[in-house]
Amino acid sequence: MDKIVIQGNRKLSGEVTVSGAKNSALPIMAAALLSEKESIIENIPDLRDIQTMIRLLRALGAKAQYQDGTLAIRPGKNLKPMAPYKLVSTMRASVCVLGPLLARTGHAQVSLPGGCVIGPRPIDLHLKGLEALGASITTQHGYVHALAKKKLRGREIYLGGSFGSSVLATANVMMAAVLARGKTAIESAACEPEVVDLARFLKKMGAKISGEGSPLIEIEGVKKLQGARYSVISDRIEAGTFMVAAAMTGGDVLIRKADPHHQNAIIDKLKQAGARIDKGKHDIRVRRSGKLKPVDVTTLPYPGFPTDLQAQMMALMTVTPGISVITEKIYPDRFMHVSELNRMGAKVFLEGPSAIVHGIKRLSGAPVMASDLRASAALVIAGLAAEGETAVHRIYHLDRGYDRLEVKLSSLGAKVRREKE
Ligand code: EPZ
Repeated sequence: MDKIVIQGNRKLSGEVTVSGAKNSALPIMAAALLSEKESIIENIPDLRDIQTMIRLLRALGAKAQYQDGTLAIRPGKNLKPMAPYKLVSTMRASVCVLGPLLARTGHAQVSLPGGCVIGPRPIDLHLKGLEALGASITTQHGYVHALAKKKLRGREIYLGGSFGSSVLATANVMMAAVLARGKTAIESAACEPEVVDLARFLKKMGAKISGEGSPLIEIEGVKKLQGARYSVISDRIEAGTFMVAAAMTGGDVLIRKADPHHQNAIIDKLKQAGARIDKGKHDIRVRRSGKLKPVDVTTLPYPGFPTDLQAQMMALMTVTPGISVITEKIYPDRFMHVSELNRMGAKVFLEGPSAIVHGIKRLSGAPVMASDLRASAALVIAGLAAEGETAVHRIYHLDRGYDRLEVKLSSLGAKVRREKE
């Protein structure tokens, strides 16, 4: 396993280019299963989760070839609709093959994803939606068995939960409904840009979808889908991570291939925190020369502040004079980074789903342990601004979702290196 070693207290400056969005690419790769024909998907980031999804597609009988950011997927006629524990347990997003397999083959057997370090992540809404379309669902021996004796049938489906809406449940139901007979209406659908991206890919395959990006998505089922060529959107969480890093180090960074429309929540909070932000058509410049100011943040479904930037924002708050409060409404237990930030001298106190952050002058570099993907990113950002050396161990998590982060940060002037443990 590798670690990342950072010599801190350096400003980031220069230009960096954002990769394709992991959380768009994964469901889009699953959606390719909906046709026998080949799909070509571009702007796929080079990440561990993408490699896992490629292995899963191959285990299901599809041919998949990845080179230089382009992935060719040829599902063929005969899929093996069984997603094994060993793949699903390493990546929860594997669950999004459930809808496509059911729609294509009338049958899907997918390992239950189980526990997760960021808190309980049930899939009841995925199953509720697929049942509403006519599948009978049982869980046995740790696997979900979904069976559609007849062709799936379009329905009105309410997908809301106490937390708002679910991104991958919306994706799964949408993918199953595109081949169902008749019309489906998904109410309380997730509005995330990744859901919109998936709908656009499905439409290129010949699906009939409207309303994506709003809480009501309507789908008119079609008999067959074609393969399609598509380029995924850029990663708004990677872009947001660079934005926070630029603001925290008092730097000046131009983030290329970022869609400013997707970043409004983080732009708003960083402006309040004292950063200056200029939006271009496809880029964002973030700089800060004045003092940081405290801000309160509540994570919410899109267009609210993303939970996937909560840890990074907390790193920034640790060195912001005054008191800032973060409330986590999506995953109330997603605070594994708190104790590690506190090891670096931060003063963060947990009160239920809220973290109270008392800003200190400067963090001090320390050996820390990454626990999940975004917590790892937060620790790297904290290390960039800290006094002395920080070693982030178990960097395996970072490799699941950030494409060459240390290379990109080095190009911005950071002193970062990867070392074998
Ligand atoms: C997606 O996960 C992302 N993953 C997550 O990215 C992200 O944190 C999350 O959306 C929220 O934005 C991918 O896109 C691959 P949800 P997803 O269903 O779809 C509850 C990252 O770091 N819920 O929108 O699985 C759930 O427990 C990550 O890249 C149910 O109760 O998240 C949570 O509280 C990690 N029942 C809330 O909904 C369900 O059936 C939102 O989760 C489904 C979800």
